[in-house]
Amino acid sequence: MPETDEKKIRMATESYKRTILITGGAGFIGSHVVRLFVNKYPEYKIINLDKLTYAGNLANLKDIENKPNYTFVKGDICDESLLKDLFAKQKVDGVIHLAAESHVDRSIKDPFLFARTNVLGTLNLLQAAKESWKNDYSGKLFYHVSTDEVYGALEFDDTLFTEETRYDPHSPYSASKAASDHFVRAYHDTYGMPCVISNCSNNYGPYQFPEKLIPLFIHNIRNKKALPVYGKGENVRDWLYVEDHACAIDVIFHKGRVGETYNIGGFNEWTNIDLIKVMIKVADKMLGNPEGTSTELITYVTDRAGHDLRYAIDATKLKKELGWEPSLQFEEGIEKTISWYLDNQDWLDNVTSGEYQKYYEEMYADR
Ligand code: NAD
Ligand code: DAU
Repeated sequence: MPETDEKKIRMATESYKRTILITGGAGFIGSHVVRLFVNKYPEYKIINLDKLTYAGNLANLKDIENKPNYTFVKGDICDESLLKDLFAKQKVDGVIHLAAESHVDRSIKDPFLFARTNVLGTLNLLQAAKESWKNDYSGKLFYHVSTDEVYGALEFDDTLFTEETRYDPHSPYSASKAASDHFVRAYHDTYGMPCVISNCSNNYGPYQFPEKLIPLFIHNIRNKKALPVYGKGENVRDWLYVEDHACAIDVIFHKGRVGETYNIGGFNEWTNIDLIKVMIKVADKMLGNPEGTSTELITYVTDRAGHDLRYAIDATKLKKELGWEPSLQFEEGIEKTISWYLDNQDWLDNVTSGEYQKYYEEMYADR
């Protein structure tokens, strides 16, 4: 760890009630989790460990970067010695692990990167926690943030993924997340490490990297660029506002039963094409375009390889046991989201310049 980071963390008073290491806190969901914990729990020291890949962006955390209970450490979860050092010096007693490669299309192009970060990185983090905690697990927790994609795909019917659904991942991304879930359970079952896992559906909201459906399409509508719909646009996703996911993580971290898995979802299923039509309607209105103007941007392109047909989460366990349910109606959430991206053009321009532009052009060159 660079000396300045170390000094900064040491300078923080030692009187904090807990020290929580959040990995991937500069990414989309991680930044919302970091913000929530830093603001809601001034008695906790929050360390955000992030490698700052293309998806990590410290601009996502501008509003809390100077809070006394917050520290950022730039680093890789695959770096054994950095983790060892961090755990030893900072007396970490809680981990909320979000760092990952998260985009399915990228996993199809580079599966090894996903195995390295998502599988080996998670294993490395588990081992660092185990070595640091030395079998004294009182007051400790390793919380692994995972995805509903590990369950595979549903048909067009009324079935839902429950915590008992058999794992059946199809993409290199979901396979890597499934493997990381298995390692977390293995550390719980074999070494008695207190672990908890949540599997969440598709998130949307501010600060999502514009390679994912919703921010990409808002960006393209604004710039009058094609809206690349994979296949027939009939695939179904269950959408949850990102701040609701962060609240669920808070509840599970504090009240979840050790060794358990909790599904998190929005009870909010949309086919891609219907969702796109809603986005077009709302965005055109906000941009002052005549209704339906951007419909002509819809372009059907070659389908994603292994494209999962339908995801839908049954979040009943989380509601019954811990009282969590989504707070935001989708209509309100999507309006808030579109208006955020339209108002934060600088953020979008910043993350879509340079390297990403090249990636995007290559990505669609062969479609
Ligand atoms: P993201 O891609 O926006 O952010 C990932 C973050 O991890 C980035 O800040 C990146 O810099 C960091 N990172 C990547 N590799 C790293 C490494 N080797 N070491 C340290 N940091 C590294 O992802 P997201 O959408 O915010 O997802 C966060 C987590 O939630 C992931 O584990 C993902 O699988 C899971 N998840 C995402 C969704 C969703 O809809 N986005 C839904 C369910 C679960
Ligand atoms: O279900 C949770 C998962 O949701 C998370 O674990 C992943 O990290 C996250 O990326 C997300 O995965 P998806 O593949 O569902 O999200 P994405 O935004 O890439 O795509 C949503 C749907 O839209 C999917 O059916 C593919 C389709 N799509 C996507 C893009 C980027 C298009 O039709 N065109 C596009 O350009």
